[in-house]
This record gives sequence, C-alpha cells and structure tokens, in this order.
Amino acid sequence: MQINTVEDLFVHGLSDIYNAEKQLTRALSKLARESSNAELAQAFKNHLEETQGQIERIDQIKDLVPELKIKRMKCHAMEGLVEEANEVIESTEKGPVRDAALIAAAQKVEHYEIASYGTLCTLADQLGYKDVKKLLAETLEEEKAADTLLTETATSKINAKAGKA
Ligand SMILES: [Fe+2]
Ligand SMILES: [Fe+2]
Repeated sequence: MQINTVEDLFVHGLSDIYNAEKQLTRALSKLARESSNAELAQAFKNHLEETQGQIERIDQIKDLVPELKIKRMKCHAMEGLVEEANEVIESTEKGPVRDAALIAAAQKVEHYEIASYGTLCTLADQLGYKDVKKLLAETLEEEKAADTLLTETATSKINAKAGKA
C-alpha cells in the first residue's frame, strides 16, 4: 500500500500485525504440540487464547474507527519467524533441547509483537485515537507478560534440563 501520511503508516502497521496474529494462531498450536514440557505446552495454549482475543481487539478497532481501513497483507517478518521455528523443530528431537529452541523462537515472536504494538501505541497517541490506544496497550501488556513467562519457564525448568541433555 502507498504510505503518504502518519495515518497511512498507522493503518499499515495495524494491517501488518493483524495478519501476523493470524499466522501466529496456527504456529502456537504447533509449538504446543511439539513441546515435551506440560507447563510450556500450557503457556503456548494460553497465549493462543490471548492471541485470539488480540485479533478481536483489532476487529473492535475497525468498528470503533471505520475510516481505519485495515488492508489484507502478509506480514513477512512473522512468516520468517514461523519458518525459523519450523526449521528448529525439524532439526531437533522432541525433548528439553527442542523445548529450549521453541522458547527461543517464541520469544523472537513476542519481541516482534512488542516492537509492533509499542509503535502502534505511539502512533495512536499522536493521531489522537484514545480508545484505540487503550486497546493496543492492553495487547502490548499481554505480549510483555507472555515474554516474561517464557523467560521464567526457560530459566526455572527447561534450560537446565537442556544443558544436561
Ligand atoms: Fe499477539
Ligand atoms: Fe504474542
């Protein structure tokens, strides 16, 4: 899409993350399946549910401000991150080393989302979309919490086992 204004940039960012979240719903169920640690699998499943709620928040934004016309587009960054996750799944056996690799892949995803929603919050502020900003900030907090939880799972359980594998 042609981007001429900050508003266009905002719509572009929203459209990009909308697609990224949709790609992620498929990827997260795969991460849960491939994990051999029950706690980790549950964390992926919980974040999958959250992700569905995050997609609904963007739908709410579309209803709230109809002039923000979300475009159909492919988030190439998320496509690449998911592809890399699939690659490590292919190159590992089910077990603690794969679990550590899944966490690493998922945290790259979370950091991409944190960067994206952080920017979108700033742009929503600048454009004066108060209610939209509120919704985006809720998602941003969920992404940060998901990232923290993955760090905790890695440091408390998985990586120690992976080190011994
Ligand atoms: Fe998300
Ligand atoms: Fe996320």
